[in-house]
Amino acid sequence: MRPDIRPMTGEDRAAIVTILRALPEFTPDEVAIAEEVIDVYLQKSFSSGYHIFVSEVGSSVIGYVCYGPTPLTVGTWDMYWLAIDMKSQGQGMGRALMAFAEARIRENQGRLIIIETSGKPEYEKTRRFHHSQGYTIASRIADFYAPGDDKLILEKRLV
Ligand SMILES: CC(C)(COP(=O)(O)OP(=O)(O)OC[C@H]1O[C@@H](n2cnc3c(N)ncnc32)[C@H](O)[C@@H]1OP(=O)(O)O)[C@@H](O)C(=O)NCCC(=O)NCCS
Repeated sequence: MRPDIRPMTGEDRAAIVTILRALPEFTPDEVAIAEEVIDVYLQKSFSSGYHIFVSEVGSSVIGYVCYGPTPLTVGTWDMYWLAIDMKSQGQGMGRALMAFAEARIRENQGRLIIIETSGKPEYEKTRRFHHSQGYTIASRIADFYAPGDDKLILEKRLV
């Protein structure tokens, strides 16, 4: 089924937090940060520096994407979060949300998208997803998050 993608509202908050808490990829600390970002967005909309859209199938919210222009750059955007409910994964929903965000970034004269992620083995599935969507590893900082947990900076150039 084709998802509807629309800007997040306060009514979507509980559903998104439930999705995030159930995903093994995110720690409670990471979910807390995601919630803080959501609350800033809900107060200030796009002027917060964050753009958040949800994906809905039928009347259920099944995922969200959060991205925004990187401050002090010309045309560089950060893709901060992308999450799809466990039950809805593997059906093209992540690809659809990512493509939607990329199209909007393009419309806003974006030329470079950056994703920061962990190099831990648990993120292998996520890395395969990013690779399939055209993101490549621009750099790696060894032991950034913790000993043995590298930071990967992924990039995708739109022009
Ligand atoms: C990563 C995530 C967003 C992918 O969403 P999804 O809806 O499951 O992915 P899709 O069904 O749209 O798959 C898109 C592509 O990724 C590939 N892919 C997805 N899951 C994969 C897996 N487990 N193994 C290999 N490839 C995979 C598919 O082959 C597909 O390729 P295609 O576009 O050539 O067909 C989702 O799994 C998720 O929310 N994971 C947990 C949170 C997370 O890691 N978020 C990203 C970092 S913030």
